Amino acid sequence: MAAGDAQERRKERAGRAGADLVSDGDIVGLGTGSTASFAILRLGERVAEGLRILGIPTSVESERLALEAGIPLTTLEEHPDIDITIDGADEVDPNLDLIKGLGGALLREKIVAYATRREVIVVDPSKLVDRLGTRAPLPVEVTAYGHAAVARRLRALGCEPALRPRKAPGSGPFVTDNGNLIYDCRFDGIPDPAALERRIDAIPGVVECGLFVGLAAVVIAASEGGLDVRQRAPGRPPAPG
Ligand code: A5P
Repeated sequence: MAAGDAQERRKERAGRAGADLVSDGDIVGLGTGSTASFAILRLGERVAEGLRILGIPTSVESERLALEAGIPLTTLEEHPDIDITIDGADEVDPNLDLIKGLGGALLREKIVAYATRREVIVVDPSKLVDRLGTRAPLPVEVTAYGHAAVARRLRALGCEPALRPRKAPGSGPFVTDNGNLIYDCRFDGIPDPAALERRIDAIPGVVECGLFVGLAAVVIAASEGGLDVRQRAPGRPPAPG
């Protein structure tokens, strides 16, 4: 079996396991990315079998997928308290702190995560790291106005920021669902994610950064051997929300 196929199977197993934690009557945050997409498809199957839920998508793409899967949708305005969210991640550290946003949906994902009682993160094991910022760059969503000035401030924090391009070469910068730009910031490891998040968020022009500190309640990593389920350690309460 090709390595890519094996990774897809791990993502599918993790995504489906996350979706199986959803209960009848839940308001459900719907994450973004390939692993979260497997969760959306599984939820669609469960809805067809009679599960009653309302979904809140974290991106235009997850909304499209959820509608195709037959999941009834609602909004944060109608339901500001979310029971459970199933989302992916780009890095997970031993404290269950995360880097998210390589799919470009970090702002809506973070708003949804803060409104969620039980944030469930589904990943393949390649996302598990000893320290954040060692495998993935840190995405930072910024306003288009003044973005080069923001990039200089980000560089002063010890990273190399790169303006994310659109996938098609020569077609300009990537634009988020919210009309903003993203700088992917390459750090040589992030020793204190909470402190870095505060410093980044204090820069005018930063809309949000992809550090998710204290938000994940459960991480499910699927390997060939089975499911590795990690719960937030006692004494580390989820961030207020
Ligand atoms: C989306 O903005 C990200 O936060 C995703 O959750 C992340 O990129 C994970 O994607 P995959 O499941 O495709 O690796």
